[in-house]
Amino acid sequence: SPAWRLSSYHWRLLFLPIAMSTHLDETRRRRTFAIISHPDAGKTTLTEKLLLFGGAIQMAGSVKGRKAARHATSDWMALEKERGISVTSSVMQFPYAGKIVNLLDTPGHADFSEDTYRVLTAVDSALMVIDCAKGVEERTIKLMEVCRLRDTPIMSFINKLDREGKSPIELLDEVESVLGIACAPVTWPIGMGKRLKGVYHLLLDEVHLFEPGRNFTRQDSTIINGLDAPGLAEAIGSEALAELREELALVQGASHPFDLDPYLAGKLTPVFFGSAVNNFGVQLLLDFFVEHAPGPRPRATTTRQVHPEEDQLTGFVFKIQANMDPAHRDRVAFMRVCSGTYSAGMKMVQTRTGKEVRIANALTFMASDREIVERAYPGDVIGLHNHGTIAIGDTFTEGEMLTFTGIPNFAPELFRRARLRDPLKMKALQKGLAQLSEEGATQFFRPLTSNELILGAVGVLQFDVVAYRLKDEYGVDAAFEPVGVVTARWVHCEDAKKLEEFRDKNALHLALDAAGALVYLAPSRVNLQLTQERWPQIRFAATREHA
Ligand code: G4P
Repeated sequence: SPAWRLSSYHWRLLFLPIAMSTHLDETRRRRTFAIISHPDAGKTTLTEKLLLFGGAIQMAGSVKGRKAARHATSDWMALEKERGISVTSSVMQFPYAGKIVNLLDTPGHADFSEDTYRVLTAVDSALMVIDCAKGVEERTIKLMEVCRLRDTPIMSFINKLDREGKSPIELLDEVESVLGIACAPVTWPIGMGKRLKGVYHLLLDEVHLFEPGRNFTRQDSTIINGLDAPGLAEAIGSEALAELREELALVQGASHPFDLDPYLAGKLTPVFFGSAVNNFGVQLLLDFFVEHAPGPRPRATTTRQVHPEEDQLTGFVFKIQANMDPAHRDRVAFMRVCSGTYSAGMKMVQTRTGKEVRIANALTFMASDREIVERAYPGDVIGLHNHGTIAIGDTFTEGEMLTFTGIPNFAPELFRRARLRDPLKMKALQKGLAQLSEEGATQFFRPLTSNELILGAVGVLQFDVVAYRLKDEYGVDAAFEPVGVVTARWVHCEDAKKLEEFRDKNALHLALDAAGALVYLAPSRVNLQLTQERWPQIRFAATREHA
């Protein structure tokens, strides 16, 4: 249709100058992040508002539709839908204030999943959303632990200020004590719930009034400069103003001022207050984010650090996902670009296999829609079509044999034995499990001393997903039964002889994972502890790096 042509043309025109500018400038413009939060804190709502500011969507409500599919975890049709849709919403790229923002979506399951962990390995910073009534919740604590593994810089948005919640000071206190990170408030709320009048920007010395139905752009908001400005007392009431002054005196004395270095080191989080659903306080957050959040940073490989400024392309795959039509088994591998420039048609080497591939049709995610990308820069994510040859953790380069580190498999905490209802489907079951574990949907283990297939997961919903997909995509009707395993450890030992001895003595508890690595499946925590004490030369690892 003509409307479509116009918009496509428009985008091309808009990005022509970008394509021509240098790799270095492009790299510095990138801001790649993910939102971490407990379900219902407002991640989806905030995402939508950020996309609105970025001009990536025209209307509120379009992200919300995806959310509906996400929540109905018992409805497998909805799950299907989510899997399809989330390929397009996995990466949302939009320009804002001269920067290119890449927002990486984390899976929205009510359940905790490994996918989320791995998305966090592909970002340069994170945004934490907290519900002001609920404070720091369990999922946020877990996600924060993952961020801490890489000292990921974190900004915080305390949401739902239009409702009554804990006091702002109490909230900061909770973040500091529960999450162990210093708080530097950048905005401060004036009232809360029905008494919400606005926020005060501590660094800009501006009061932004809360005006429901407005606040969509800075131009659209009433901003009062300074606490002594005439008209402020009138706008928010002299009582609220007196209260604000009192609180600010307290806060400025007791809290940390914003400082870039500790923020970049993951030791201090700038804090914003607002209401995502009212779009209030969101632009202040976004403005601050694009200015201070880090661009692409150097990344470790097994042999050396790779700097984003290097001109040779490198990247790693952090996620694999079934595409719209699972019947065609068309899967998309998401690769984070770490250095160099990707351009359509170039050759890349998959270092795990040494194979050279020409990539002509990688997906990009500009304007919340898929289109063939011509170029991508460090910080960007491209979607590679995958027919089962690409695995999570794979490194791609222009020829140098590098392997990026830090994309982990986590030791599962839940285990099931797969049992076939139709024994003739064994081959299909094995194939299905191999492919699903390659996607990271589950982990699977083959014990050394039996023909069993044992599945491991971090969240219990993973088993349901696997059962559903085995049936739907591989025609296998499998049941999962309890099995006497409580945790797994990847086993390493420098001394090959010692390892062999360990293997002989503990064969009953040992298995191979999908990649052929040796794993100890512990029947109890006590057993694990005793075994570790008995075999001090053996290293028992709770994560396995994809290799
Ligand atoms: P999530 O992705 O983190 O799970 O949260 P989501 O954005 O879906 O928000 C969860 C609920 O909180 C939604 O209500 C949403 O409208 C509401 N919400 C988000 N931001 C605010 C806010 O600033 N103030 C208030 N009062 N509510 C907020 P819901 O009832 O589940 O959905 P809906 O019927 O409103 O769409």
